[in-house]
Amino acid sequence: MAFRDTKSKIIIKTPEQIEGIRKASKLAGQTLKAVASYIKAGVTTGYINDLAEQFMRDHGAIPATIGYHGYTKASCISVNDVICHGIPGTLELRDGDILNVDVTPILNGYYGDTSSMFTIGEVTEHAKKLIDVTKECLRLGIEQCTPGKRIGDIGYVINKHAVKHGYSTVYEFCGHGVGLKFHEEPEVSHIADANTGPVMQPGMIFTIEPMINAGKARAKVDKNDGWTARTIDGKLSAQFEHTILVTPTFAEVLTDVNGDYEIPIWN
Ligand code: MF3
Ligand code: CO
Ligand code: CO
Repeated sequence: MAFRDTKSKIIIKTPEQIEGIRKASKLAGQTLKAVASYIKAGVTTGYINDLAEQFMRDHGAIPATIGYHGYTKASCISVNDVICHGIPGTLELRDGDILNVDVTPILNGYYGDTSSMFTIGEVTEHAKKLIDVTKECLRLGIEQCTPGKRIGDIGYVINKHAVKHGYSTVYEFCGHGVGLKFHEEPEVSHIADANTGPVMQPGMIFTIEPMINAGKARAKVDKNDGWTARTIDGKLSAQFEHTILVTPTFAEVLTDVNGDYEIPIWN
């Protein structure tokens, strides 16, 4: 059984749970890798979603998003000014589009959550820069994840980096504890004061998933579908997400299957 800190409901995962979440997280990363080469001009977001769903099921997993508060798809696919929770469907990808694909497989009862950006054909320098800076924001956030630091330290460095480049950080959607459920405590805000929030401890697993906007920070949720969150000014938004394990000495990026993140050792 999971140990629960008396002051918060943040679950400290057992070695057995960590192993299960590690496998689910790896599958999440592999799902994005598997669909990547199919993401090109002329295909629909629904097609990419179906490929992702098939891949997860072929590997013994269930997509956590299906049935989640009434959501019906196996992934979220958020194109251009969509910040997050874009519903895959008949939208055809076109040259110049940027998009985020977000997947959360449940494998043997354990959850792993990751998302990444993709580009279609030639995209503007401006779009490329937004994507690069957002990726840097996630990396800086990950580098804060060591025992003794606080959850607020993550949002502090992320927002500082976004602002430095003239961008804004979405505050309506957060990272979250993950592993035994889809969304657990703590909330991981991407804009926060340093040295605030819960203290990180070995065995904590949570996502960091900064959504960075080229223009204003505010999001508005589509009234018709109740999910799609867009920028209020129609400008671009980018997002990357990884599932992170705090270990006694470093942050293990459980969803990183490409080896993009060298694991820093702090002690
Ligand atoms: N995967 C998203 C996250 O990173 C949540 C999607 S919930 C859905 O937390 F219902 F929109 F799919
Ligand atoms: Co998430
Ligand atoms: Co996600």
